Amino acid sequence: MSGALAGRRVVVSAGPTYEDIDPVRFIGNRSSGKMGFALAAAAAARGAEVVLIAGPVHLPAPDGVRRIDVRSAAQMREAVLAALPAEVYIGAAAVADYAPRSVAPGKMKKTGATLVLELVRTPDILAGVAIHPQRPKLVVGFAAETDDVERYARGKLVDKKLDMIAANRVGVPGSGFECDDNALSVYWPGGARELGPAPKTVLAEALLDLVDTRLQVHRSA
Ligand code: C5P
Repeated sequence: MSGALAGRRVVVSAGPTYEDIDPVRFIGNRSSGKMGFALAAAAAARGAEVVLIAGPVHLPAPDGVRRIDVRSAAQMREAVLAALPAEVYIGAAAVADYAPRSVAPGKMKKTGATLVLELVRTPDILAGVAIHPQRPKLVVGFAAETDDVERYARGKLVDKKLDMIAANRVGVPGSGFECDDNALSVYWPGGARELGPAPKTVLAEALLDLVDTRLQVHRSA
């Protein structure tokens, strides 16, 4: 097995998170997990030791991957941090930004004409990994943007202290959530590359090629 990933641990998060409101309801999102699962499969095929932290998705575990299933952002964070140290972290999960302050112990009744749910910010897993004492050599994030893709993506690259960010434009037919195809704009300090439109399995290979190159740059720095 050749390449910078062979024999190295790669942690990938994938899919949505579900934030429970009560025993029967939750706040979720439409992430299918396909991009993260494709990245995990491709990294395993390159000889990496892959830990895939998966939110609630309907996808089979790729061959040769250690899969850990989680539900909420808090559980995902715990599983990701427990998977360190690693050479690479790829945060492909669509983590909920807010979760209910508390989970109602019983099913909530419909009483009033309106209902106000109090939500609190979830911890940013990706930003936490990037400043962790066991920080992976390469920390890669995703960003779903509707407009001004490069400006917002580069902002996140800097703010979250990432090495690379893959942005996809949401709201464009044939790309993004719940799709087999996607198009990515990838940014790193001093560089950029457009990938696709292409099937997520093809994009995963192309993104790992970039990861491989950046890893070699970091190692020789
Ligand atoms: O800031 P934004 O949510 O657009 O950033 C998206 C990136 O941050 C993704 O890589 C996602 O996995 C990660 N993220 C995270 N924890 C959160 C929110 C986002 O790891 N609570």
